[in-house]
Amino acid sequence: MIAMHGVQKHFGDLHVLRDIELDVPAGQVVIVLGPSGSGKSTLCRTINRLEPVDEGTIAVDGNPLPSEGKALAALRADVGMVFQSFNLFAHKTIRENVMLGPTKVRKMKKEEAEQTTQRLLERVGIANQADKYPAQLSGGQQQRVAIARALAMNPKVMLFDEPTSALDPEMVNEVLDVMTSLAKEGMTMVVVTHEMGFARRAGDRVIFMADGQIVEDTDPETFFTAPKSDRAKDFLGKILSH
Ligand SMILES: Nc1ncnc2c1ncn2[C@@H]1O[C@H](COP(=O)(O)OP(=O)(O)OP(=O)(O)O)[C@@H](O)[C@H]1O
Ligand SMILES: [Mg+2]
Repeated sequence: MIAMHGVQKHFGDLHVLRDIELDVPAGQVVIVLGPSGSGKSTLCRTINRLEPVDEGTIAVDGNPLPSEGKALAALRADVGMVFQSFNLFAHKTIRENVMLGPTKVRKMKKEEAEQTTQRLLERVGIANQADKYPAQLSGGQQQRVAIARALAMNPKVMLFDEPTSALDPEMVNEVLDVMTSLAKEGMTMVVVTHEMGFARRAGDRVIFMADGQIVEDTDPETFFTAPKSDRAKDFLGKILSH
């Protein structure tokens, strides 16, 4: 579903992605871990071309990433992305926020978009908040709206970049629960997260990054119990001692 080969990316002198080789089969849940600045967000952003790469190829569902124009817009629609900050439109209701993509980008008829929106808001547990504005919702609720908004485009892949890091602790689980149910239904997911319980429970695979490289690529159990590299041991030592 995602194929990255020989990917290189620089920001000026900084080599942020080095020789990235990553094949993600359909339905796999990939957890991306690594210290701050190791390139996790940049990796995600290249998958839907929010960041262009200098070298190498990236394909989603067999289609190489187009560089611009209509084909790029279509590809972005295939790849849903959820960030730490929810980026909902403040002056639009929850329902309007979710309906925007299907009507404007997917050109869905209003009635069908309304039904899709209703179904997705029910699914993330906020159908009863549909006519409120984002500021009237808690952070956890807003993030669930952001997930519904991404799903409304009927994506083939979902990217999550620290979706729970900005949330109060008591709201983390309601968002992780939605993500877990998505994973169970077979969505292909790439998830940057510090939630190690979730990583172990919901992940099929862990990618550990350091200095722009994929240093370990293994199953969660092996990663957490028997990391190979010193970088990973050091990283786990720091986070697990909290
Ligand atoms: N637009 C940009 N211009 C210049 N440098 C950037 C840009 N975006 C990221 N970087 C740099 O690239 C490196 C990788 O950044 P990235 O955001 O991918 O790291 P990360 O692993 O997601 O870190 P964190 O855990 O803190 O979110 C960092 O050194 C960062 O400062
Ligand atoms: Mg990041």
